[in-house]
Amino acid sequence: MQSIEKADRESFDALVAELAAKNYAEIPCTLSRAKLESAAERFFDYLTVSQEEKEALHFYDRPENRQGIGYVRKAGEEDEVGRMDFKEYFHYHPKLLKEFAGSNLLKNPKTAAYLEAAEEIHAEAFRASKKLFEIISVEFPEVYGRFFPRTEEYVEYAALRFLKYEPSGEGNFLARAHYDRGCATLALAESAPGLRIGKDEAALTPVEHKDGIALFMPAYQLPELTDMRFRPAWHDVVQASENVFRENAARWAIVYFTDAEGAHVPTKEEAHQVMG
Ligand SMILES: [Fe+2]
Repeated sequence: MQSIEKADRESFDALVAELAAKNYAEIPCTLSRAKLESAAERFFDYLTVSQEEKEALHFYDRPENRQGIGYVRKAGEEDEVGRMDFKEYFHYHPKLLKEFAGSNLLKNPKTAAYLEAAEEIHAEAFRASKKLFEIISVEFPEVYGRFFPRTEEYVEYAALRFLKYEPSGEGNFLARAHYDRGCATLALAESAPGLRIGKDEAALTPVEHKDGIALFMPAYQLPELTDMRFRPAWHDVVQASENVFRENAARWAIVYFTDAEGAHVPTKEEAHQVMG
């Protein structure tokens, strides 16, 4: 925990002030836009791997089987971000490489190229998140350890999500308003504008995502570990234009989710209702 001492009160106060002003905070991130776009391209290449092979690359790492790591395809049911239709995403975590060590699944060139890019992005998202946890721990020293119950090599319960959104038409929702269910979310990159963040429905404001910046959004669990200065970011995603990324994809996003061990995981209803 030596590194916590590097974070100072000034950083904590600046973070809290930024959250009070706009419900998210801009965190320095060394990943260039080109690097993130290249990783997204590799993700779309990976999606052309056979369905059977994709679905084999998944496992659960939590006692209650929430989330899971690897490839996920959801169709015909409302998912955790309120989308009703089909979508595909991938949760990268370094545990995946250990779980599937020696497996032929990792030898597919498209899979290998994608995982290599994902690992590089994960490393930076992890570094930026760790710094963030250190800052939060200036006032809440017990928070840091909740992310690293066993090792500081990685956040125990985390996922770097590569997400492909199906087209739904200009001005329509790609994700209706919600809180993320974990503790802290870093929005690393999106193919196009459309993310809106605020305190509540009336305050939702389109976000401009600058190069070299990750957007820190407190998620549902964070006030439980801290206080309401870390009110979760209410957010939705609107398809801002008819100009979609690809014929079958309105948009992509790369997001890093981190959860604290032992915190209350909200129900779908709780995640879709503004807190008082
Ligand atoms: Fe979200």
